Amino acid sequence: MHRPDPPPGREARGGGAGAGAGAARRGRAGMIRGLGVCYYPEHWPEALWAEDARRMRAAGLSWVRIGEFAWSRLEPAPGALDWGWLDRAIDTLGAAGLRVVLGTPTATPPRWMLTRHPDMLPADREGRVRGFGSRRHYDFAHPGYRAECARIVELLARRYGRHPYLAAWQTDNEYGCHDTTLSWSAAALAAFRDWLARRYQNPQALNRAWGNVFWSMEVAGFEEIGLPNLTVTEPNPAHALAFRRFASDMVTEFNRLQAAILRRHSDRPIAHNFMGRITDFDHFAVGRDLDIAGWDSYPLGFLSDRLEATEAHRRRFLRQGDPDFQAFHHDLYRAVGRGRWWVMEQQPGPVNWAPWNPAPLPGMARLWAWEAFAHGAEAVLYFRWRQAPFAQEQMHAGLLRPDSAPAPALAEAAQVAAEIAADPALAAAGAAPAPVALVFDYASAWAWEVEPQGRDFDYFRLVFAFYRALRRLGLNIDILPPDTADLSPWPLVLAPGVATLSAPLKAALARHRGLALLGPRTNAKTAEMAIPVPLPPALPGLDLVVARVESLPPGVTHALARGGAVAHWLEHVEGAAEVVERTAEGWPVLLRGGGMHYLAAWPDEAALLRILGSLLAAAGVAALPAPLPDGLRLRRTPAHLFAFNYAPEPLSWQGETLPPAGVRWWPR
Ligand code: GAL
Repeated sequence: MHRPDPPPGREARGGGAGAGAGAARRGRAGMIRGLGVCYYPEHWPEALWAEDARRMRAAGLSWVRIGEFAWSRLEPAPGALDWGWLDRAIDTLGAAGLRVVLGTPTATPPRWMLTRHPDMLPADREGRVRGFGSRRHYDFAHPGYRAECARIVELLARRYGRHPYLAAWQTDNEYGCHDTTLSWSAAALAAFRDWLARRYQNPQALNRAWGNVFWSMEVAGFEEIGLPNLTVTEPNPAHALAFRRFASDMVTEFNRLQAAILRRHSDRPIAHNFMGRITDFDHFAVGRDLDIAGWDSYPLGFLSDRLEATEAHRRRFLRQGDPDFQAFHHDLYRAVGRGRWWVMEQQPGPVNWAPWNPAPLPGMARLWAWEAFAHGAEAVLYFRWRQAPFAQEQMHAGLLRPDSAPAPALAEAAQVAAEIAADPALAAAGAAPAPVALVFDYASAWAWEVEPQGRDFDYFRLVFAFYRALRRLGLNIDILPPDTADLSPWPLVLAPGVATLSAPLKAALARHRGLALLGPRTNAKTAEMAIPVPLPPALPGLDLVVARVESLPPGVTHALARGGAVAHWLEHVEGAAEVVERTAEGWPVLLRGGGMHYLAAWPDEAALLRILGSLLAAAGVAALPAPLPDGLRLRRTPAHLFAFNYAPEPLSWQGETLPPAGVRWWPR
């Protein structure tokens, strides 16, 4: 059913700069597929704008995103609005042929806002107020700040909603970034109590649901409930999980308010720029109010700052980024955007915010963009146009240096634009169907943060390990939300670590005619964070009970009889399910009943590659017979096979050599 690809042809090579207007291609309903850049007209003398716009077009850029931090210039004092500069900026950029993405400025409330709403500032877990002087200094739950956001968004939407140069909206900027989803403020407490009252109706129901009889935690009214911080020892995990759900709902509500206003006055698509590895709100829920899921891709920053990896891995991919981290998020945000997604910010050179900030290998600014298009991105916007010599991000590269001379990424962006212009179908193809689906569930990330049971049990880390193994086997992967009700397109479905299987997913698994792999820890909790009885995993067609679990400290592994090992987590199981794999000591770790498989442990990469390889073969999926070399990755679009070399040395694929940072594509 999924056939291997034909042998490679010639490497497609692009021309230089100057691809101009042809560099993007119209996709759905006038949508331009192509490149763009993030630009801050308010940072530069107005006399520069036209020349900047001309140079953007000369490099082949089609999109420009502006405005998302400009509240202090739009409304210098409460109610005193200054639209003139933004009118002229949009006109200048649009007249040059750029399509404008306008951000709502709500991630940066100006200083006067705090005089009006001193209690809108968020508080950290210790209850300390987080101050003014950077950005994201607001509490999602604060009603006064929400009203201010509604007001400014309404004004923007009325003024620009049908502007001919406006192509899309962006709400706010990177919800949750800088650890801002959770706030432990008075505003959050008041809103949490209201949220609990709506969810549980009466305190007795809450007491029962949470098991508050334990340690005499029962309450007589919702006003007696606090936030789950500053307790003497750990709070009730049900209380902690409820707070996580509440905080996620606050982000969704905050975004929904803006999206609803924009839609009243504008027919342009609405996007948000999500971040990498932020799991503390439900992106699928926010995505339902958007037309496009954007995300901000900083491969070198991420490798340095938010990935578990050996020192050898960090050194090897220092200038290229992890070979799977971006791809994972491309697939994730394709799901969040229900097919429509962008890279709203793309790293162009060294950033300023990671512990170490190396420069990308020549060619990587091109490779990252092609990896995104090969995953179906509609647009890739580099962050930012010109490096700002002032303030927090003065050490962050752009496409131009602070003196306006080209930085190295400008020519690479122009090359991608020229390549798209030469063969528009290349970037416009969209995503090809994948033979494997991987469920991603934000609520499971919260559940296992609330109750890791072992310091190394991190949900993202677990799911990402499965993703990496699938990609090393050369596959396209679809990521699914946890309430997916139809699994029939995927011969193999994986749902590791999903704390509570939703009713639709459970029913879909029961109906599924392909194979499924669940565990470890799948379906191990009720929705109220208790152990279900009958005991987990309670999966259709699988006679299996997890009788107890153990977590293992770093360095403790159990070898598998057939190779590889398990680490971090081991479940002791009972039941009549067929044992497919055991540890060398004889503990069952892979069990089966019909097409349903359960992993009772956390396999290392070697074990995962082997186990997934045999499941893929059993599911009739043509995976590679051996994993790809370390750093080589493949991706299929409907019409092409792409290969990417993330390694620092040349690598060969089907007799062809890819230099470091090399990208090749062949018709399929
Ligand atoms: C992003 C953010 C941008 C900029 C960039 C720097 O997280 O959205 O505004 O700060 O990082 O890398």
